[in-house]
Amino acid sequence: MKTQVAIIGSGPSGLLLGQLLQRAGIDNIIIERKDPAYILSRIRAGVLEQGMVDLLREAGVGARMDREGLVHDGFELAFDGRCERIDLKSLTGGQTVMVYGQTEVTRDLMEARQAAGALTVYDAEDVQLHELKGERPYVTFQKNGERVRVDCDYIAGCDGFHGVSRQSIPAETLKVFERVYPFGWLGVLADTPPVNEELVYANHARGFALCSMRSPTRTRYYVQVSAEERVEDWSDERFWEELKRRLPTHLAERLVTGPSIEKSIAPLRSFVAEPMQYGHLFLLGDAAHIVPPTGAKGLNLAASDVSTLYRILLKVYREGRTDLLQRYSAICLRRVWKAERFSWWMTSLLHKFPDTDAFSQRIQQTELDYYVGSQAGRQTIAENYVGLPYEAVE
Ligand code: APR
Ligand code: PHB
Repeated sequence: MKTQVAIIGSGPSGLLLGQLLQRAGIDNIIIERKDPAYILSRIRAGVLEQGMVDLLREAGVGARMDREGLVHDGFELAFDGRCERIDLKSLTGGQTVMVYGQTEVTRDLMEARQAAGALTVYDAEDVQLHELKGERPYVTFQKNGERVRVDCDYIAGCDGFHGVSRQSIPAETLKVFERVYPFGWLGVLADTPPVNEELVYANHARGFALCSMRSPTRTRYYVQVSAEERVEDWSDERFWEELKRRLPTHLAERLVTGPSIEKSIAPLRSFVAEPMQYGHLFLLGDAAHIVPPTGAKGLNLAASDVSTLYRILLKVYREGRTDLLQRYSAICLRRVWKAERFSWWMTSLLHKFPDTDAFSQRIQQTELDYYVGSQAGRQTIAENYVGLPYEAVE
């Protein structure tokens, strides 16, 4: 087989890149090691920045999001028995976020790809990348017992944190930055009305809690748990009890509980691999970086990487601007590190750490009080939460 861009992985990064390239007439094949049902079964993030919303519209997959997504003008920070609203819209000159599940974004992109007749190879085993430094890279994989070869111009590594793409770069040319947090998030999805119209991020002496949603009738709630916690030990009842204890009284009182539809524990990690390219291979999304979910940045960073590579490839194929290719990593990393910083900061500010004593609890509360007490403080939270601007590719 032959294509212009071979895309490894059909998560949001791979699908969105594929969709944009497809619409621009740039041929691409997605090679994915799982099947579509598995990909659609994953419950992930749910807050889209304006930049990602615009990119989905540009890709022609914004219709259902615009119908069913919830535009949020702000969110709540709860601490020390208080609830403080961050008014995103007024603090950022009109910017907002869209609450729309990653699973739905993925579904919309998969449907659009199928309608466009673009090729996705599912259940591809033993995916390998070859000749990355040469002019003619290629990908091989095993499918139905046969070895398949795909020749291409460029390879987009969209295969997540555990994928083959980053591992195909010689270790000595990669610099890796990592922080593993000593706790995880226990998440519950339930068909209950949200406790609040907007998201609530809560700092509490018992640990962090987050009230999010997928729709006016479906909630996604989280409580911080220790890294060793097992999901089997958390009955629905125990979860609701713990969540209630961490919320300000007026919210705890109106919390509606119900049976969970999904319950899982996710570890928290910060991770960046530099550079995000090697020869004709480009890394996007979770393949290159991970953020703890506290700032709602993971999916949005994947989208900004996609935007950058897409705009570079457009100029490469339409104007012969191959000089732009070498700038991919630096452009992405400037934005990635700012989101890493914000996600780390929100995580540090809102969670209980093993060494959090009475003093550090007061310092956390005071830092929150200080930020929400000043216009500049609120503005810095708001501008990061709605998403920093995408860098132009020129
Ligand atoms: N070969 C082919 N496909 C692979 C391989 C491989 N060796 N390894 C992994 N994959 C596939 C996975 O099965 C998955 O479908 O690559 C895809 C990667 O998708 P994600 O992990 O979702 O990563 P990405 O598309 O970058 O999405 C960004 O943002 O909110 C965060 O972590 C969240 O998934 C989200 C991410
Ligand atoms: C979610 O809805 O799953 C969600 C929302 C905001 C976050 C993290 C997760 O910061």
